Amino acid sequence: MSAETKTKRRAKGGERADPTKYTECYAYRQARRGGSRERILYCEDTPVEKIADAVGTPTYVYSRESIEARYRRLDRALGRLPHAICYAVKANSNLAVLRALARVGSSFDVVSGGELDRLRRIGVAGNRIVFSGVGKTRDEIREALGYPRKAGPRAGILIFNVESEPELDVLLSEAARHVEAGGQRPSVAIRINPDVLAGGHKHISTGHHHHKFGVDWETARRMYVAHKNSRWIAWRGISAHLGSQIPEAAPYRQALARLTAHVRELSRKGIHLESIDIGGGLGIRYTDEKPIDLAGYARTLSQAVRPLACRLLVEPGRWLVGPSGILLTRVIYVKENRGKAFVIVDAAMNDLIRPVLYDARHPITPVARSGENSARNVDVVGPVCESGDFLAQDYLLDEVKTGDVLAVWGAGAYAFAQASNYNARRRAAEVLVEGSRFRVVRRRETYGDLVQEELSGGK
Ligand code: LLP
Repeated sequence: MSAETKTKRRAKGGERADPTKYTECYAYRQARRGGSRERILYCEDTPVEKIADAVGTPTYVYSRESIEARYRRLDRALGRLPHAICYAVKANSNLAVLRALARVGSSFDVVSGGELDRLRRIGVAGNRIVFSGVGKTRDEIREALGYPRKAGPRAGILIFNVESEPELDVLLSEAARHVEAGGQRPSVAIRINPDVLAGGHKHISTGHHHHKFGVDWETARRMYVAHKNSRWIAWRGISAHLGSQIPEAAPYRQALARLTAHVRELSRKGIHLESIDIGGGLGIRYTDEKPIDLAGYARTLSQAVRPLACRLLVEPGRWLVGPSGILLTRVIYVKENRGKAFVIVDAAMNDLIRPVLYDARHPITPVARSGENSARNVDVVGPVCESGDFLAQDYLLDEVKTGDVLAVWGAGAYAFAQASNYNARRRAAEVLVEGSRFRVVRRRETYGDLVQEELSGGK
């Protein structure tokens, strides 16, 4: 018997997923309903079915406590090493999520004018913002230069991570205007391509020389030296990002060995950098992946950076918010085609593209479970007209029926953030749970929202 068949047999024997075992702030609690014993899923002190009933489905649910606790845990792990955690806004840019992180002291990593705008709206000071991205436009650079900075002596944002020579040229010309008009010189880092292979899937690995990101060291060295005494910019850092969903510390160690050597070399040339940004990428557990060992990760970073007396910047997205969210969806139909069972739900690939795009395996469980329920292998699919529209394939799911509410796990990061209106579907509502209360932090789109920009006749 092949190993694969063995696993399948075992799965059929009833190893149903229970992500509450490794997801903080979510738990099944015993309840009695209509004479039978059930286990009901809670997010903090809120039964999530109540949210589905009140707000409808599909709906994203985020636990504020989980987001804050994860931020604090990472902050504690980095300990006394001077550091800033710059949350990667792209993972989940809901204003309520950003506000929660801002309140616990987070800094932020943005990659677009739109993300910068979100931070401005919630009053995040510029000295807490890192601007990354391979294609910053002149307009975006200008916006960042003029971004209000509440604290500290310098204007604008904390640092620009420049990713190419032509981008540096644009930054130099915009910075010149800015400085001539009385502004401060912006702080700048170069994003190095560290030539390290890491990342959970080929689409989310970024730090290898064949990727579009960053600058090779020969070029970067030339850029640093050429603008050593620039009147328009100040070199203050060096940065890298390796990829996403990285399960171990080794690639970070490898990349930091290179970055710290570069910092030392530049220092010998009279260029003294103040910060090392090692990007994000910390892996989490969705199904049976090994999450990154936080202590080991922090130790690796500290060991590399401490001798340099530089400030460490990290840019985690997924790790901070991924496990804090679930997607609630309701079963529309259950059907069979030639012995294969399909559970058709009201969430689809436009709500959660990760399964088809990255082969991601998000566990799915009913929000009400009874011990006696049998389970079977099914495809959980949405109503969109594509075979790629699935949330899970060949998945051992509890027996479910029309109307049941399911939770799709690990849906706090790159989930709503990557949603679209494909098939003229309205994007889902988003809800933030705070203890026994919950509030809609983004209402479900209406059909009116979907056509508004077309009805305005282009005005
Ligand atoms: N910093 C930079 C420069 C990045 O490009 C990214 C992610 C991060 C930080 C945050 O990485 P994280 O800590 O979240 O792994 N949509 C994909 C993930 C794309 C990640 C893109 N860059 C997914 O759903 O898996």
